[in-house]
Amino acid sequence: MAADDTPGADAQPDAGRQAGPRPAGEDRPGKDAAATLWQGRFEGGAADALRRLNDSLSFDRRMFRQDVAGSRAHAGMLAAVGLISTEERDELLAALDEVEAEMAEGRFVAAPGDEDVHTAVERRVTELTPAGAKLHTGRSRNDQVAADLRLWTCAALDGVARGVLGLQATLLSRSEEAGGALLPGYTHLQQAQPVLLAHHLLAHGWALARDVDRLAEARRRADVSPLGAGALAGSSLPLDPERTAAAAGFAAVFDNSIDAVADRDFVADALYVLAVLGVHLSRIGEELVLWSSSEFGFVELDDAYATGSSMMPQKKNPDVAELARAKAGRLIGHLAGLLATLKGLPLAYAKDLQEDKEPLFDAVDTVRLTLAALDGLLATARFDTDRMADAASSPYAAATDLAEWLVARGTPFRAAHAAVGDLVRRSLAGEGSLAELVAADGRFGPEAVALLEPGASAARRTTHGAGGPGPVAAQMERFRQRIEADTARLG
Ligand code: ARG
Repeated sequence: MAADDTPGADAQPDAGRQAGPRPAGEDRPGKDAAATLWQGRFEGGAADALRRLNDSLSFDRRMFRQDVAGSRAHAGMLAAVGLISTEERDELLAALDEVEAEMAEGRFVAAPGDEDVHTAVERRVTELTPAGAKLHTGRSRNDQVAADLRLWTCAALDGVARGVLGLQATLLSRSEEAGGALLPGYTHLQQAQPVLLAHHLLAHGWALARDVDRLAEARRRADVSPLGAGALAGSSLPLDPERTAAAAGFAAVFDNSIDAVADRDFVADALYVLAVLGVHLSRIGEELVLWSSSEFGFVELDDAYATGSSMMPQKKNPDVAELARAKAGRLIGHLAGLLATLKGLPLAYAKDLQEDKEPLFDAVDTVRLTLAALDGLLATARFDTDRMADAASSPYAAATDLAEWLVARGTPFRAAHAAVGDLVRRSLAGEGSLAELVAADGRFGPEAVALLEPGASAARRTTHGAGGPGPVAAQMERFRQRIEADTARLG
């Protein structure tokens, strides 16, 4: 094992915990060390290494608003079914308000025994009111943590969707600005057929539209209350899970108490959706890396979104685009990591499930930051449309148009393809320019030469969803409406 540089680290294994007499030791505090929720059953306090491995407050305190919201709903339900008085409910609600304010304002002082956010909130509520001792009635941290994380996920996915819509709006305005600017469309990263720059930018926009859909679907699946499932089996007390669910703002309530506490599909769903979104951002990033190279020269990045080199004064580097490209790896890793944690896990709750939060939190943070940076990068980049038009103007890019010109005059496509291929080969071999060969060829003639003019090929792309000016204008309108509808849906 590598040297541990964590202050106070103690790598001694804690074997005595499982069997046999407990040796005295520094890592074996007495009963009045930091209090635990389960101290009634235990003789001694928890080992330091256990606390450091087990405690999750450092990261799950992020869910304090959701934890307080779930407790409010639970307290309301307990009063409604007569398990606590309305006075006790009101004292609990006031204490929960106070705890939420302390946490929001950074005034909350964690106690040594605050294992996680649920423990911390309940401990502080109980300091503020004796009714706190009734808050955990009919509840387990197992249903509580699932509820908190579901509420957190719903809000987080909405936030990500807003970020995606922002990037889509930038792609739309850059597309509008691009007007009739052309660039070579690529397959195999080889120049293929010229298209409008707007068409290319909107292609990324539509991929993001599917992400917005997926985010909404993942949110819908997360929006189910597990409250009332208890540790795993429900309760002997007259709880009303439907009431708790509605009060906490959930759209639905669990069907099976075991599933309610064991299920983390909603986290996997969210991580999958974020990973796919990350893959889309990586494809945008990669193109900006290519386009900003001097070899392409299609785009110049704004200084605010570019970096320099510590050694080479001439350099301007596309770090934002590179990181957008790279972050997908980390997002895919989070999805794979969580699935590995869930695989083979017996029902119902096991502490393994505590490993759901950090990947989700990191994935959401990573995506939101990447979206914001990429949005800024795209909004401020300068497209060199002359350079793009130049690259798009190769007569060879119109080869398909020549073949289709023959097809329109009755030639079977395969024969037309071969005829044009023959001219291209002869031109590349130096027999003449493609225009000269086309003009001299009896099957084509001077009329077909006009197809080789810059812009002619894109202008002839007139079918639904195609890369020419007419369909791109219609597509742009559909895209604008799609963004508006999704924005309205998000509220
Ligand atoms: N911190 C725990 C988690 O994130 C809360 C649930 C604890 N439940 C338990 N039975 N120990 O999963």
